[in-house]
Amino acid sequence: MPTIAVASGKGGVGKTSVSLNLAIALAQLGKKVVAVDADVAMANLGVLMGVESAPVSIHNVLMGEVDVKDALYDGPAGMKYVPASLSMERLNKIDNQRIKNAVEELAKTFDYVIVDCPSGLGIDAESAIKACRQVLLVVTPEPTSLADALKVKNTAERFNSDVIGVVYNMRSHEKGEITPQDMATVLGAKVLADIPFDFTVRRASALQEPAVMNYPGCAFSRSMRSLAYRVAGEQQPLEEKLKKGFLSEIVEFFKKIFGGQ
Ligand SMILES: Nc1ncnc2c1ncn2[C@@H]1O[C@H](COP(=O)(O)OP(=O)(O)O)[C@@H](O)[C@H]1O
Ligand SMILES: [Mg+2]
Repeated sequence: MPTIAVASGKGGVGKTSVSLNLAIALAQLGKKVVAVDADVAMANLGVLMGVESAPVSIHNVLMGEVDVKDALYDGPAGMKYVPASLSMERLNKIDNQRIKNAVEELAKTFDYVIVDCPSGLGIDAESAIKACRQVLLVVTPEPTSLADALKVKNTAERFNSDVIGVVYNMRSHEKGEITPQDMATVLGAKVLADIPFDFTVRRASALQEPAVMNYPGCAFSRSMRSLAYRVAGEQQPLEEKLKKGFLSEIVEFFKKIFGGQ
């Protein structure tokens, strides 16, 4: 079953937002999904859902204290997640290599294991990438983000991970901004999602409400649903593509006028 590392070189590009919302969107498609917070130093996945302290976390798993199956929590739409601990205590007791076993164990019972990786290429990030068979690169339009993503891609390939694609996040459509085509060429991978900068993501994160659950009509959530179909290798129905977007409102409007509804 797919085990997907959501990775980037640069921090703050949207890995945690994508990991959580992609996991929920896949769960909404009826898949059995678990999201794992492998960013042990930053521990943001639970925070995005309003869970700041969990009695058992990935830290306990990486310290060899508990089995990963005992660190699963219920998330929205039936997805499960393994949070990280916000506490910095005992971080030095962690064995990053244990993440591989944990991911492999989860892959036995879940259709998708989505791993929210730390930024960069430190031992924690490398171990998380190595633990997964696939990698999804999250990249923003800055040249530094692209350059760092290229390094992550090369590292992932060294580990025989399959780079399944790129999430182009926070696009602003500024003049001179790198295009999705250029990004695909530089990274040698398909752009699976092209997401604009969307203030709703900031609001969702400030209110600790996952965007795809609470703001299903925003540009980010619609991109996440399309991404989920692509990752699952399924065709997205047209009505679903248009759902709750501007276009769907226009379609509804014309249906009302001409459709006799
Ligand atoms: N498409 C987007 N538009 C606007 N803000 C975004 C978008 N994607 C993510 N963000 C915001 O950017 C910040 C960093 O996102 P996060 O998912 O924590 O990144 P990372 O895990 O890579 O560090 C958060 O405040 C998040 O709400
Ligand atoms: Mg993060």
